[in-house]
Amino acid sequence: MQLKQLNLVNFRSWDEFIFKPAAGLNIFCGGNAQGKTNLLESIFFLATGTSFRTYRDQEMAHRGASAFAVGGQVLAAAGEFYLGVSWTETEGKTFTVNRQEQPRFADLLGHLPAVAFTPEDLSLIKGGPRQRRQALNFLLLQTDRSYYFYLREFNRVLGQRNSHLKRSRPSPGNELLLLSWDEQLTQPGAELMVRRQRALAAMAPWIKEYNFRLGSRKELSVFYQPDLALKPGFDLPSAREKFKQQLLQNRKDEWRRRLTLSGPQRDEIQILLDNQEIRNFGSQGEQRLATLAWKLAEAKYIKEHTGQDPILLLDDVYSELDVERRRFLTEQVNRSEQTFITTAEPKENLPSSSAAVWQVTLGNIERLQ
Ligand SMILES: Nc1ncnc2c1ncn2[C@@H]1O[C@H](COP(=O)(O)OP(=O)(O)OP(=O)(O)O)[C@@H](O)[C@H]1O
Ligand SMILES: [Mg+2]
Repeated sequence: MQLKQLNLVNFRSWDEFIFKPAAGLNIFCGGNAQGKTNLLESIFFLATGTSFRTYRDQEMAHRGASAFAVGGQVLAAAGEFYLGVSWTETEGKTFTVNRQEQPRFADLLGHLPAVAFTPEDLSLIKGGPRQRRQALNFLLLQTDRSYYFYLREFNRVLGQRNSHLKRSRPSPGNELLLLSWDEQLTQPGAELMVRRQRALAAMAPWIKEYNFRLGSRKELSVFYQPDLALKPGFDLPSAREKFKQQLLQNRKDEWRRRLTLSGPQRDEIQILLDNQEIRNFGSQGEQRLATLAWKLAEAKYIKEHTGQDPILLLDDVYSELDVERRRFLTEQVNRSEQTFITTAEPKENLPSSSAAVWQVTLGNIERLQ
């Protein structure tokens, strides 16, 4: 994928701006608060309709404006098209393809595949299981249409089952109702588990390899740990059966705690560096490399599943990395179709590469190299 032109209207610090990035690697240099991260965020917003910094769309509007828009001329495997995403205070978000308004906003995902790394993504390593599940969900949402359906269905039924447990008392009638919720929960739940297992099995060796390529000498291992005691390589019927059994086994506790106590909403993804929990034992740099390795593996996964090389958006990625590792990272992303890196480092401190280097100052971008 390649973004040939980016058009911003009232996006954060940018009021109106047209920018033509280069193919391959683009590096945005500039002092603090010049709008570098805002640029990456705008591309991420064009790709996903969301921000990696905020849940409130309004925050992205330039100085409280009532509307903002991001547009881009996109070069994909099948040809070029113009993608536009806009937000207005009154109507929320809409997107257009070649200026044609599209009926469902959720269909935006997939038009411009992108993988972002921001310093907050270190929560993938440092945070709790929820952060890791979210990262995996987001990847699967971008690559597997049915995952969206199963996730939505699972969350809907889980919510209803939990509120049934909260509202009612154990009785034969309520038991029967719960049994029917079990039936409805286990089907989408098993679909999620099977897909998560498959994706992580594919990703694990790539994550390990990228971590080496980025200069780590330690072995990074990633395992899917489903909440249910399933054998590696489990299939759909066994996941469903196990899930049902477990729900029945937990009946008493569930009535007591008034909560669904097993299932994929409690899955964990374990990340070890040389067999130790990287969360507790990894250094800052090791954790950053591991997160980057995960992200590069995500990009590869998207490429394998959609046929499109996603755009890489790497925010402030050089900090905490030594000279050698900066060089490895730059070499690695140089191979992608298009990558954007922001850094507050002066140009002289960057690893030498064929990258297009841009100086960003409030409201302007100038090519240095
Ligand atoms: N909605 C908005 N309207 C106007 N300005 C905004 C809005 N949101 C953020 N800004 C401003 O944008 C400026 C640049 O932010 P940005 O995060 O892109 O900086 P940066 O170049 O990445 O800096 P750093 O190197 O410190 O990360 C900030 O000063 C911020 O106040
Ligand atoms: Mg920044």
